[in-house]
Amino acid sequence: MQNIDCDWKSLPFGYFKTDYNVRCYWKDGAWGKLEVSDSEYINIHIAATALHYGQEAFEGLKAFRGKDGKIRVFRWEENSKRMNHSADAIMMQPVPKEIFKEAVITVIKKNEKYIPPFGTGASLYLRPLLIGSGPQVGVKPANEYMFMIFVCPVGPYFKEGFNPVKIQIVRDYDRAAPLGTGHVKVGGNYAASLRASVRAHDEGFASVLFLDAKEKKYIDECGPANFFAIKGNKYITPDSNSILPSITNMSLREIAKDMGLKVECRKVTVKELDDFDEVGACGTAAVISPVNKILDRNSDKIFEYCKDGKAGPVSTKLFQRLQGIQLGEVEDKFEWNLIIE
Ligand code: PLP
Ligand code: COI
Repeated sequence: MQNIDCDWKSLPFGYFKTDYNVRCYWKDGAWGKLEVSDSEYINIHIAATALHYGQEAFEGLKAFRGKDGKIRVFRWEENSKRMNHSADAIMMQPVPKEIFKEAVITVIKKNEKYIPPFGTGASLYLRPLLIGSGPQVGVKPANEYMFMIFVCPVGPYFKEGFNPVKIQIVRDYDRAAPLGTGHVKVGGNYAASLRASVRAHDEGFASVLFLDAKEKKYIDECGPANFFAIKGNKYITPDSNSILPSITNMSLREIAKDMGLKVECRKVTVKELDDFDEVGACGTAAVISPVNKILDRNSDKIFEYCKDGKAGPVSTKLFQRLQGIQLGEVEDKFEWNLIIE
C-alpha cells in the first residue's frame, strides 16, 4: 500500500483528515452493526446528553508500522476495558470487546495509507469515542449511545519529543475531585484542566503538574500524562484515586521490573521532588517526556533534573525498550501487540 505524501518527521500531534472513520449505535437495547463513514461529521440530537450533561468518554491508542513492515496496535484490550470503566462511571452503555476490536482493525485497514512509515518517529493515533446521543432534558442517562473511532497520523505530543520539558505545579486549579471522575477518561476532566494548561503554555511550560485536590500535598499527574520518577534503583509513580490509570505507565512498570528496578506505586509528596534522580511524564500521546525543570508556581521553588541537557539513563532505557516493542525491534515478550494482517 502506497503511503500518502507527507513530511512525516515534522508531523505535530493534531487533527489530520483521513479517509474513513467507524461508527456503531446502541438503540432499543442493542448495539447495531459497525458502519464505515467517510464524513468527518456526526448527526446527533440537539438534546443529546453528551452535549448537555457530559455523557462522553474517549480513549487514545496507537498503531505503528514496524521495522518488518507489519502494522502493530499496542494493548487495545486495555483501552477497551478502560473505556468501559469510564462508561460505567457515568452510566453509559459499555461497548462489547468484540465491537471495539472490530472497530480498531477496520479503521486501521481503511486508513492504511496514513500509517507513518517506520523510522519517522510518527504513528497512527486512534481516538475511540463513546457518547450519549439520545435526548434528555432532565439530568438522566441517555437511552441511545454512539461509539466511533477516527484516526490521525501524529508526531510527538510535546514538541520537544524525547527532549526534556519544563512543567509547573499549580495549586489554584484542580483537575479532579478525590471521589470524582479523575480515574476515568471523560471529557469533563479535560475541560477542567484547560485554564491551568493554557496558562502553563503561555508561561513557557509544556505541561501542568496537578496535585491531590484535598491536601495539595501529593503529586497526581502531569496534564494528559502520568508522573514517574527514578531514584537509584526504584521506579516511583503516584497511587491516587483521581488520576487516570495510564496504560503506558502500567507497561513501563512491567518493563522496569523486567530490567531489575524496584517498582513503588504509592503516594508521592511534592517534597520528594528534591530527592529524585530523574522525572518524567508518560502516556500514549506523550510516550515518555523527560522533565528537566519543575516550577512550583506558588513558592517559586524550582526542582531541576537532566542537568547535562539530556534525558536520564533510566528514562532512556525505558523509552527505548517500550518503543522497540511497539515497532517490532525488541521481542514482545509480554504479548502487548496485535498484528494487523
Ligand atoms: N493521564 C491522563 C489525564 C491522560 O489523558 C492520559 C492519556 O491517555 C494519560 C494519563 C496516559 O494514559 P495512557 O498511557 O493510557 O495513554
Ligand atoms: C493520550 O495519550 O492518548 C491522550 O488521551 C492524551 C490526550 C488527551 C491528548
